[in-house]
Amino acid sequence: MAYPPSTGFHRCGLSERLLYTSFLLLMGAGYLMALAYLYTSHQGHDGKPGLSVEDVATNYYGNRSGTRLEAAIRGPMSGYIDETGRHHIVAWLKDGADWDGYQNTVGPILSERCVGCHSDASGMGLPDFTSYEGVRAYAKVDTGVSLQSLIEVSHIHLFGIGLVLLGIGMIFRKACMTRWLKAVLMMLPFVAVALDISAWFLTKWDPVFAYTVIVAGAMLGLGMAAQILISLYQIWLPSECDPCD
Ligand code: HEC
Repeated sequence: MAYPPSTGFHRCGLSERLLYTSFLLLMGAGYLMALAYLYTSHQGHDGKPGLSVEDVATNYYGNRSGTRLEAAIRGPMSGYIDETGRHHIVAWLKDGADWDGYQNTVGPILSERCVGCHSDASGMGLPDFTSYEGVRAYAKVDTGVSLQSLIEVSHIHLFGIGLVLLGIGMIFRKACMTRWLKAVLMMLPFVAVALDISAWFLTKWDPVFAYTVIVAGAMLGLGMAAQILISLYQIWLPSECDPCD
């Protein structure tokens, strides 16, 4: 099928090129920030430093052999507690996290080490550990991020990333390259986002889909990077060609 051609970058004036360049660079930086955020917020969930498949699985599926409190004191919160304190809390969790144990041992440990940040008074919006009820919520078996917050994050990502990809794609459509390859690169990040977000939900059901989350996330990154870099290259080192479609 023949389609009406779009005009190539070589027909763009200086301001248009600067507009495209600035937007692409900003989106590239945004993507790198997203990666950095992903790393800092997900790494160490499995108790080992660095981001791993287990961390991704733990985030969505949870650690069903343990509680979020235990995962926290072995992972991201381990720096705030010593070996003895950790031992007491873990033993208490294994014994069913009852009121007596809270009153006698665990409550005082949390008051000393944790409530500086983990209280409504701190104003940090963190889980409140000044009462048994507050702690109890984190002393249940960990089933990962809640469906509610998954839906919340998904809709933000679908709208947000969709618009970013539209912006980048509107620029990339001016690039000159083999038609089929361009069509594939155009679709790739959209397919990747759809796959990635579906896989979040699937991972909640079966942790094996953590691999899909990672592969689709990588596809999104590569697709965006290809569109951005090819566009930037052709904006500033233009050929005389108009894209075929
Ligand atoms: C210096 C402030 C600070 C102290 C002290 C602190 N935390 Fe946290 N805690 C945070 C922040 C910030 C978060 C949210 C970010 C995160 O999850 O890494 C958090 C998150 C948590 C979570 C939620 C994790 C989840 O599954 O969502 C738990 C549980 C937790 N902390 C337990 C503790 C315990 C137990 C202690 C004391 C041994 C403690 N924290 C001490 C700042 C603190």
